[in-house]
Amino acid sequence: GRCVVAVDGPSGSGKSTVSRRLAAALGAQYLDTGAMYRAVTWAALDSGIDPQDAEAVAKVAGELDLEIGTDPDDPFTRVGGSPVDREIRGPEVTGAVSAVAAVPWVRQLLVAQQRKIIGAAGRIVVEGRDIGTVVAPDADLKVYLTASADARARRRSAENAADLSATAADLDRRDRLDSTRAADPLQQAADAVVLDTTELGIDEVVTRLRAMLDR
Ligand code: CDP
Repeated sequence: GRCVVAVDGPSGSGKSTVSRRLAAALGAQYLDTGAMYRAVTWAALDSGIDPQDAEAVAKVAGELDLEIGTDPDDPFTRVGGSPVDREIRGPEVTGAVSAVAAVPWVRQLLVAQQRKIIGAAGRIVVEGRDIGTVVAPDADLKVYLTASADARARRRSAENAADLSATAADLDRRDRLDSTRAADPLQQAADAVVLDTTELGIDEVVTRLRAMLDR
């Protein structure tokens, strides 16, 4: 039957790895909503638009030909038919994405696309910042992953082979922007299961979530 799992949390909390592994274990689809905000950001920067210019950014979002793959073993993001997976995770996009994600019209547009994908999938694990609160408030299971700021910065800098203090500063800045914006801020759903992954391995987290779904 239908099964929607919402996974929210800040960067470096383990959302992506946990969500992909859980989806694969459940034989479900996987949706990375962060990749969608990143794709809009990449397209805006690519056309020379100032990411702070909400009106211009909204226009880019409205005209974007965005495709997102939902196979947990092969997730992809395409713009105008071309893969942008590497580009959307680069430092330029990471530096501008929170400004783009704060534009209400961009959110309305992407949330509508996300709901369509979820409705078509039936069984899906969806990761982001506002899944349990806005995109899928009726999800079967809502998970909020956290970890200490230190652990999150260490994981992210190892993944990107990037400087630790620069990574910590970027995470801190994005956490603040993502949780204080007016439209759909990062926030724990009241009925979310909260897991702190500072000391908890990925396998342990996936095992616990599967057990909750089996009950
Ligand atoms: O990979 P990381 O966890 O650092 O971020 P991401 O999940 O790729 O999301 C990148 C950015 O997109 C976040 O910092 C948010 O500004 C925005 N985002 C959002 O506003 N709402 C979502 N559902 C997902 C991402």
